[in-house]
Amino acid sequence: MIVTIVGAGNMARGIGTRALVGGHSVRVHDRTETKARDLASDLSRVVSGADVTAVGADAAADADLVVLAVPYPAGRDVAAAWAGGLAGRTVVDICNPVDFTTFDSLVVPPGTSAAEQIAAAVPESRVVKAFNTTLAGTLAEGEVAGRPLDVFIAGDDDTARRTVSDLVSSGGMRPLDVGPLHWARELEGFQLLHMASQERLGLELVQRRRDPAVTVGACPRPRVPPGARGGAARDRSGTPPCHRRSAGRSTRASTLEGREGRC
Ligand SMILES: NC(=O)c1ccc[n+]([C@@H]2O[C@H](COP(=O)([O-])OP(=O)(O)OC[C@H]3O[C@@H](n4cnc5c(N)ncnc54)[C@H](OP(=O)(O)O)[C@@H]3O)[C@@H](O)[C@H]2O)c1
Repeated sequence: MIVTIVGAGNMARGIGTRALVGGHSVRVHDRTETKARDLASDLSRVVSGADVTAVGADAAADADLVVLAVPYPAGRDVAAAWAGGLAGRTVVDICNPVDFTTFDSLVVPPGTSAAEQIAAAVPESRVVKAFNTTLAGTLAEGEVAGRPLDVFIAGDDDTARRTVSDLVSSGGMRPLDVGPLHWARELEGFQLLHMASQERLGLELVQRRRDPAVTVGACPRPRVPPGARGGAARDRSGTPPCHRRSAGRSTRASTLEGREGRC
């Protein structure tokens, strides 16, 4: 299928990687054209013969699935502006609408979710919530501690949920179809708790104490050329060194990186 990703940040890189590994075509759109081109170029090295290109404002034109890999409420606004082009398409909302100034609440009112707000902005589209509990670094890696990633999927349209499940399983992950879109409220609330509890549980301190060399920060671009560390598939995925060090041990580093990366 053709997977169009709106945004060229950490999650775009992670989801783009998994989509290409799954044999899909990837289109990258970003409000900054050069960023979309750079990411497409990086992703083209993940899988040999990968079909990945940067696209312009007509990004949704041939997409089977459009992933909004931008913060909330930007994702809602982009969706609303593109409502016509997105009509009839499956739109994947991956956001965590967290108040990043306090990390103690969501910016959507109780009784709804960002996914439902986005769905209201594109009533002709099939909106699916997915990937919001899956961190960017682990997506690029494709596993945590040797285990496949779980991806929760919620949406009101059965076909759209199946399409997203297919994307997830083809990329080597485990789809967990939880049913209707209203479950996005719990998925978003759960991820807020996940982020907010890091300090309370002392995970950041534990991580730093155990391995002060671990870089805690937004999932960065690869710091080594693809394949430079022995050419293993993992390296070719573009996973940065900090994630490689953390992946075999626990999810802590990835969690921290996700938080600082505004997951
Ligand atoms: N990081 C994670 O581990 C993680 C995990 C689960 C879910 N998420 C969710 O995934 C989404 C993307 O996160 P990320 O970590 O990939 O963020 P990121 O690395 O900061 O990338 C965000 C992307 O969105 C674009 N963007 C920002 N504001 C925009 C606007 N107003 N209009 C259009 N584009 C805009 C940015 O473009 P510019 O560079 O031009 O600003 C950039 O391409 C967020 O909703 C986040 O909550 C993240």
